[in-house]
Amino acid sequence: MELLYRSILKPFLFYLSPERAHSLTIAFFKIALRIPFLSAWIKGAFKLEDPRLEREVFGLRFRNPIGLAAGFDKNGEYIPVMAHLGFGFLEVGTVTPRAQDGNPKPRLFRLPADKALINRMGFNNKGLDYLVRQLQKPRPPGILIGGNIGKNKVTPNDEANADYVACFEALFPFVDYFVVNVSSPNTPGLRELQEKEPLQALLQKLQDLNREKQTPKPILLKIAPDLSDAQLDDIIAIVRETRLAGIIATNTTISRDGLHTPAPLVEALGAGGLSGQPLRERATEVIRYLHERLGEETPIVGVGGIGSAKDAREKLEAGATLVQVYSSLIYEGPTLIRKIKQGLLT
Ligand SMILES: Cc1cc2nc3c(=O)[nH]c(=O)nc-3n(C[C@H](O)[C@H](O)[C@H](O)COP(=O)(O)O)c2cc1C
Repeated sequence: MELLYRSILKPFLFYLSPERAHSLTIAFFKIALRIPFLSAWIKGAFKLEDPRLEREVFGLRFRNPIGLAAGFDKNGEYIPVMAHLGFGFLEVGTVTPRAQDGNPKPRLFRLPADKALINRMGFNNKGLDYLVRQLQKPRPPGILIGGNIGKNKVTPNDEANADYVACFEALFPFVDYFVVNVSSPNTPGLRELQEKEPLQALLQKLQDLNREKQTPKPILLKIAPDLSDAQLDDIIAIVRETRLAGIIATNTTISRDGLHTPAPLVEALGAGGLSGQPLRERATEVIRYLHERLGEETPIVGVGGIGSAKDAREKLEAGATLVQVYSSLIYEGPTLIRKIKQGLLT
């Protein structure tokens, strides 16, 4: 499978635009899973289950600690496909109450010399009602689903809480945990919601609603890697005060430091969040900083530049309990998930 990806599929996919390659790959897997012998082969090739991989986190049982990061399946359309690739959990979204187109294309770029991506997608998604309809469909057993929630671009920041509340209420019956995304660099002004007062108010509001439910669900906060230590300290205080279930560290970075891709080429691509290998170290640093201060009381989901079992272990050793991947799936192919699991077992 790996040879097939490296020698045939990857060169072909890298010839296409990244967005086209993304939809074509998923379409391929969707069709293949409908053909019995191919489906059996795919499920066999990616399957690796072992009780040593299981984790109990925020009261949920994860069959393994490797998740699909948000943004890959914004509309919840790929749940069966991604479940068969061997993830322990999938995060759908970021969803906004109303459908929106996102930024004009091109808005997703590969930086092969850095095994990185730059994106300024801008929360393109089909809206809350569509996502709910996808989540109502039957799903493969054993997979946990997180709902990553955001606000529409046209919603001013002082009305943002209503967007998050609408997403929270509509998704509540259908997801296992929530992620409050205030850290995407591609929605103007969004990251201002990471500041102390607005963040405290938003998380408190969601937690109040959550506590009114018969069985509250874990709510996590996803943060940017570009926060200063002082800003991280504020986040820590708010997470404690609102008794949040956990933190996802980190989203993409606006930094362009340390890239191998020539600077003029990078500049020509324009604004956007950088992900993949160049983000690895900073994301790990943020995880370590948070874990040293929060300890075991607040589980951390580590994400940013994980492209091997060694990278996953680095995040876990820095204090993450679970990890997620996105960019490396494009460079390493879907066998990456099995390889990480195998590596964690040895
Ligand atoms: C094309 C693309 C779209 C993304 N969209 C979202 C999103 O909608 N919501 C979100 O919380 N993170 C989004 N992310 C960030 C990822 O979930 C992840 O935090 C980041 O890419 C770092 O992980 P990686 O280095 O493994 O890619 C996106 C990333 C990429 C590359």
